Amino acid sequence: MGIMLDKYCRTINYLRISVTDNCNLRCIYCLGKGNTYFKKEHELLSFDEIIRVVSIAAKLGIEKIRITGGEPLMRKNICSLVRKIKNIAGIKEVLMTTNGILLNECLEELIDSGVNKINLSLDSIDHVKYRKLTGGGELSTIIEVIDRCIEKGVILKLNTVIINNYNNGEILNLIKFALEKNIDIRFIEMMPIGLSKGTEGVTSDEIKKIIEEEYILKPYEGNVLGAGPAIYYYAHSKNCNRGGRIGFISPLTHNFCSSCNRLRITSDGFLKQCLNWKYGVDLKNILRKGVSDDELEKIIKNTILNKPNKHNFGTNNQDEDKRLMSQIGG
Ligand code: 5AD
Ligand code: SF4
Repeated sequence: MGIMLDKYCRTINYLRISVTDNCNLRCIYCLGKGNTYFKKEHELLSFDEIIRVVSIAAKLGIEKIRITGGEPLMRKNICSLVRKIKNIAGIKEVLMTTNGILLNECLEELIDSGVNKINLSLDSIDHVKYRKLTGGGELSTIIEVIDRCIEKGVILKLNTVIINNYNNGEILNLIKFALEKNIDIRFIEMMPIGLSKGTEGVTSDEIKKIIEEEYILKPYEGNVLGAGPAIYYYAHSKNCNRGGRIGFISPLTHNFCSSCNRLRITSDGFLKQCLNWKYGVDLKNILRKGVSDDELEKIIKNTILNKPNKHNFGTNNQDEDKRLMSQIGG
């Protein structure tokens, strides 16, 4: 398998695929009370189309695939897709990002299909606040599934987005929960994408300040852990023996584009060069017009080569993607 560099010499080996824009929750910073039109089955890439694209991308050096959404478990037979992707030559890891609500029903099947790690979104550990933040989610379902994942040895990480006036009082509670369960928690700065406009995120530095009321934070040695954009710290409680790893993903305040290793496929089948820019290629259209494997390989190669050097959030320029986070997949 090859190694693919873009024109800024970044190695591109990671592809995120949003398999549906549909979701069973309505997180305030994501779908909120807005958009209820979701793509129909034929508007999404079919599993065969996804497999074809991944097979070619793997030849170009893609090794790691993340299945995301919307809520990926809303897509029928998603475990069969995981299994098929896992069997593609060159693919080393298949990961999933989910809100966890439907995970109870399919955990065994998902593990059996070969999923390597799961990222679970969790923004509150208070039943009432969780319900309010997610537009009706049941926290006990999530806690149960987290315990089952731990029991079965699944590698789990928690993703948390902190929003003023919703869960900014939950930071220490969430950390306590994660450290007690011995799982990583990462705080992601809210990006101004789609329907998130109108909610106010909290920056990583502000979150750190709150954490430091109770914990000593030391940069975590060997900050690689999947080579993602998270910067990890080791937190040690000032009051008791509690300790563990905490990550910060700070797209707004600490740009990490220079180490970007990824491409994205949106739920409508568009191969995106960058989270924030609208550029890329309409794979769905190209695939359905009957492109050859050679041509498809060239198109993907070119898309990688011409990735923009960094995102440009908040500038409101016309090159920004208008898609929602649930269509892009984070
Ligand atoms: N900004 C930052 N993170 C977001 N997510 C969804 N919308 C946003 C946003 N506007 C998070 C979800 C999930 C991950 C895929 O992205 O909480 O954990
Ligand atoms: Fe659904 Fe995830 Fe968006 Fe929440 S953040 S509404 S769980 S897609």
